[in-house]
Amino acid sequence: SSPLRLGIAGLGTVGAGTIRLLRMNADLLSARAGRKLEVVAVSARDRTRDRGIDVSTLRWHENPLDLVSDPDVDVVVELIGGSEGPARALVEKALSAGKPVVTANKALLAVHGSALAQLSADNNAPLLFEAAVAGGIPAIKTVREGLAADKLLHVGGILNGTCNYILTVMRETGKDFDLVLKDAQDLGYAEADPSTDIDGIDAAHKLTILAGLAFGRPVAFDSVQVEGIRQIGAIDFAFARTLGYRIKLLGLARLTDAGLQARVAPCLLPHNAPIAQVDGVFNAVVAEGEFVGRIMLEGRGAGAGPTACAVTADLVDIARGHTIPVWGVQASAEPALRACPAGTG
Ligand code: NDP
Ligand code: HSE
Repeated sequence: SSPLRLGIAGLGTVGAGTIRLLRMNADLLSARAGRKLEVVAVSARDRTRDRGIDVSTLRWHENPLDLVSDPDVDVVVELIGGSEGPARALVEKALSAGKPVVTANKALLAVHGSALAQLSADNNAPLLFEAAVAGGIPAIKTVREGLAADKLLHVGGILNGTCNYILTVMRETGKDFDLVLKDAQDLGYAEADPSTDIDGIDAAHKLTILAGLAFGRPVAFDSVQVEGIRQIGAIDFAFARTLGYRIKLLGLARLTDAGLQARVAPCLLPHNAPIAQVDGVFNAVVAEGEFVGRIMLEGRGAGAGPTACAVTADLVDIARGHTIPVWGVQASAEPALRACPAGTG
């Protein structure tokens, strides 16, 4: 059968990592997808930048939006980032044109997920985003498909690799916040603007997406309570250690009789609790359902390899004929679910 032809916008940590994985695992992927996955066109800002991969044989588009009108592109892969600007314009244009989209962009999904689900449904164009939550952990598929039979009571976990890396290294080595953040940036874990990570916003984006999947309706991102890790210092680690606790940035969403509670905040966890032992760039995704009880998945939450794995798994799904709606239920005009204000619910 004919290859699935890909147009990739964004050739940074995730984009370059995805091309590397597609090349290294080409045979395995065509066996699993039933057809070859072939990158035909790319777009980024700087054509001369060394990305550690050869893109000289691929068609280069100065404007990422031109990937949509490129007749050789079957699927648009958006790896630019940001909830507005070229990323949003590209995804909207591709879906409107009926082209499937794969993205790792949690900011876009958290802020515009509802409207994009509608565009996806109206144009019969799949929109997949496994890489948007918890890097290499198959969190989206687990919540949307694996737990589709159960009523979920809560969902969340350790959802930001940069923060978990910073908290772990500061606890273990006493190194300064700024130095550890710089390491996380060099390792490709942090967002283009790292305040998105350390102020808890990225974890809140992911929690918004997970809660939308868990509770069957998009959640309003601006209703999630958010607190980051900037204010945590050596004294906090010392007290936590003395009392037998570890500090983790957690995101948790719970549907109660009073409504939705959704919050990201640094928490003290007993040091021997399984989730407290999830360290470094690792994330943990937890959920509890009426029938299934509690589950926890652990794995690398950021970085080129794990994220490329998730992006490429979505491409395999598209090659196999993916038909699952964006939020696991048909898109509806219902307003997004809002979390209760602090101190209520
Ligand atoms: P990078 O900053 O490393 O890469 C961004 C890429 O987008 C660069 O190649 C850049 O071009 C390109 N770009 C920026 N603006 C434009 C534009 N106007 N037109 C065309 N290309 C543009 O980001 P990441 O790879 O880390 O992240 C990409 C996406 O993946 C984001 O949504 C992020 O949140 C998400 N993500 C990242 C993870 C990670 O571990 N890094 C994990 C999971 C998701 P140039 O290279 O020329 O500057
Ligand atoms: N900056 C994000 C993190 C990337 O550190 O978790 C993965 O989504």
